Amino acid sequence: AGDRFLYNGYVLHGEMIKNGTIRDVKNFEFRPQDVVVASFPKSGTTWLEEIVFLIQTHLDFKLAASTILESRFPYLEYPYPGLKSIAKQQGGRMIKTHLPLSLLPDDLLQKGTKVIYIMRNPKDVAVSYYHFFRLLSFVNYKGEFRDFLKSFMKNEVVYTPYFPHVLEYWNNRDNPNLLVVHFEEMKKDPETVVQKISNFLGKDLTYDEVRMIVEHTRFENMAINPSVNYSHWEDLGLVNKNEGKFFRKGAVGDWQNYFSEDLNRDFDSWISQNLENTKLAFIFADTTEDK
Ligand code: A3P
Repeated sequence: AGDRFLYNGYVLHGEMIKNGTIRDVKNFEFRPQDVVVASFPKSGTTWLEEIVFLIQTHLDFKLAASTILESRFPYLEYPYPGLKSIAKQQGGRMIKTHLPLSLLPDDLLQKGTKVIYIMRNPKDVAVSYYHFFRLLSFVNYKGEFRDFLKSFMKNEVVYTPYFPHVLEYWNNRDNPNLLVVHFEEMKKDPETVVQKISNFLGKDLTYDEVRMIVEHTRFENMAINPSVNYSHWEDLGLVNKNEGKFFRKGAVGDWQNYFSEDLNRDFDSWISQNLENTKLAFIFADTTEDK
């Protein structure tokens, strides 16, 4: 899928290296008022971005509806709008990135810039990523899930290796400028997580405001909201229309519909190898009882 390149241990789009973006990112001047949403792809980035946007704008639902998320929340290492354009924006910015911490400026967490990292269990990430690669017409993945999973485990997919990506952030979880949230805890108890994020961003929200954000950012509501659901990609010819939607399922545990027993065994031992000597644990199943 496209031109890939290994850079400091991570698989990136070759273009990012050739055109100097990755070097410019290292020197990008973040500001203390900036908020960064970081993630491994398919971990719930879009969801978290919309939550952060509403908190930062004190629930400006009008503004959120009037502009697509990509322009409200630029993607740092993507060619559009590009680093130069992001640099020109005044004041505190909201910026999304899929880059690991080691490829961002060395002093990022010392500057006062607030960074929120969202992580999701790797089985659901792999399933979501597989569908995403089938969905994107410029990737146009046609393989079976098991083949995709094998390349994911062999660290051949863009932004892998998965574990170092997660661990670089997770190992810094005690830094006061970094908040780590789990997709699965957001599913289970979104009110608590929204409250936690707003506290982290130094914003006071009433319980009603928290509930309004939670309602606006529920899967079903975001899926039909054209400012966040990436439906404009269809007009741009970026998606294979017979491969579903960006807002696919939004569930915890969908991996169970894709992993055979064999695959699951291999994947579990791959996880254990990678989490040896760490205290990181993932949530693989939805334990919400009132659903
Ligand atoms: P699925 O493919 O499992 O449905 P990202 O934004 O990082 O690309 O992640 C996309 C994944 O997050 C997709 O997962 C998408 O459906 C899910 N998602 C997006 N918004 C969500 C929400 N409000 N609630 C639950 N899941 C959401």
